[in-house]
Amino acid sequence: MQLKFSHAVLNVRDLAVMVEFYVDRLGFVETDRGPLGPGAPDIVFLSQDAQEHHQLALAVLRKDDASASALNHLAFRVDQFADLKTTHDRVIDVAGVKVAPITHGNALSVYFNDPEGNGLELFWDTPWHVRQPVVQPWDITLDEQSALDWVEAQYAEAEGFEPLADYYAGRHQALLNAPDSAD
Ligand SMILES: [Fe+2]
Repeated sequence: MQLKFSHAVLNVRDLAVMVEFYVDRLGFVETDRGPLGPGAPDIVFLSQDAQEHHQLALAVLRKDDASASALNHLAFRVDQFADLKTTHDRVIDVAGVKVAPITHGNALSVYFNDPEGNGLELFWDTPWHVRQPVVQPWDITLDEQSALDWVEAQYAEAEGFEPLADYYAGRHQALLNAPDSAD
């Protein structure tokens, strides 16, 4: 199993200021935005990579008054569905570690924490794009095909549902058309 770094999520206080900084000063493109659930705070997804829905996401979840660093989680992509279960089984009995299988429709994930409480996500891409944010528990005892069938049934009618390849082809074209793409 190989873990490939994908994205980080930061807890933030002032979404407008933070989004403006990352978009206007550092050149990120907003790829999705919305509430994390009914009545829940917003999350904004940012990317400069046509092959990543988000490289960075900012969630209005920050409660501490520290001057910097508010990591929500680091995320790593795995190539095999089976890697999710393998990892789940490896970490489930570590003292202080809590594990939560969550799907975003475009991925099946296992969220957990390291022994000092830092958030981690391992995810495996599904064949579909689903407009974000989507957060829903899934049954990690399902086999690969059953899990995919369940995801498709959950989100096939959702706005923006499309094959992943079509979504990334569109994102690639949008980046090529961006005003500063010659940089
Ligand atoms: Fe994530």
